[in-house]
Amino acid sequence: MQKTVVLGITGGIAAYKSAEVVSRLTKAGVDVHCVMTEGAQAFVGPVTFQALSGNPVICGMFDGPQHWGVDHIYLAQHADCVVIAPATANVIAKAAQGMADDMLTSILLATTAPVLIAPAMNDQMYAHPATQANIACLRERGVRIIGPGSGRLACGTSGTGRMSEPAEIVEHILLQLSDARDLAGKKVLVTAGPTREAIDPVRYVSNRSSGKMGYALARAAAMRGAEVILVSGPTALENPIGVTTLRVETTEEMLQAVQQHFADADVIIKAAAPADYTVQAPSEEKIKKKESGEHLQLDLVTTPDILKWLGEHKINQFLVGFAAETNDAVANAREKYRSKKLDCLVLNDVTKQGAGFEVDTNVVTLVDDTGELALPCMPKDEVAMRILDYVAERTAK
Ligand code: PMT
Repeated sequence: MQKTVVLGITGGIAAYKSAEVVSRLTKAGVDVHCVMTEGAQAFVGPVTFQALSGNPVICGMFDGPQHWGVDHIYLAQHADCVVIAPATANVIAKAAQGMADDMLTSILLATTAPVLIAPAMNDQMYAHPATQANIACLRERGVRIIGPGSGRLACGTSGTGRMSEPAEIVEHILLQLSDARDLAGKKVLVTAGPTREAIDPVRYVSNRSSGKMGYALARAAAMRGAEVILVSGPTALENPIGVTTLRVETTEEMLQAVQQHFADADVIIKAAAPADYTVQAPSEEKIKKKESGEHLQLDLVTTPDILKWLGEHKINQFLVGFAAETNDAVANAREKYRSKKLDCLVLNDVTKQGAGFEVDTNVVTLVDDTGELALPCMPKDEVAMRILDYVAERTAK
């Protein structure tokens, strides 16, 4: 069923970023209703939000009803989630006091939906004990506070007070809206990305994994209610919201992090592409470039096989491995499934268009005792959801 979000926009320069929040939410299929304070209208016009949301924008308490009945009650009751982004120090103070002197604060008092607030203000205003006390009071009442981040502020200084980026705010909202909670109560351990094995202080052996597949799985598992630990090799991706992310560099470090967390995991998904080889004797100094035509010889030795270790030590954990194959894909995948004692193996034939490393899509086949389930090319977020459908079904009590 389509979800409804009431987005309150208050008077800060970050109001322009709320346009992107609306755009991303509507693209995700959410019905967005914007409520602007007078201050917000000094920064951005309501027409922008009306065009992006496809709904009338409510600006004043007495504009005349835009919805059936009394606007603030209608919206308060129909919202699946109320968000304020940006939230000024003033609206935070009013919300903490339970004031209702405009449309937005009236909705806040009248709603029973979850409330998310993304503060945006000058760093001194944010650090002021009054603001901090107001935020603490809202948190105590169950309001979720998103950010703020640090960096250059509109007033020219740098510090904490920048509104979180729209993508992050939207991720928080979608997490709140998700009602597929079939992994609630489960602990899911996911690995993602490549690992790096040093050749010298500036060079390393690695591979093309971006981490996108593993991060999509971690995000999706969190959305479905699981407690998620993500062990990630070096990637350019942001830590997923609602997930405990542990960053590691080498295959040995990934093994150690996995060993630390595997015992109480219910599900382990090894989407990482750990380097299979490490340099036997990495140089402590940068190796000088050879003359043209000269060879540089590296002795590579194998790294620990984390998945094999998990297969040998698992007790009740549901163990999902991945395999990136280029030839005899199904036969090789079956051999990995058997030899590593897996419950499921997700095969990527990385020679296929839209599959495997770096790209935003994947083409996978789930391999288990019952056979093979080939999925079509889909965005990695959807592939993650399909893998978790399978995991949820197999691990349901
Ligand atoms: O990160 P992306 O750019 O989104 O790309 C996704 C992906 C292609 C990396 C991912 O979907 C994938 O296929 N990951 C597994 C890649 C891989 O290492 O395949 P493999 O066949 O070499 O390894 C088989 C399994 O053993 C994997 O689950 C791997 O995590 C695990 N392994 C491998 C080596 C090692 N030393 N320890 C391991 O546990």
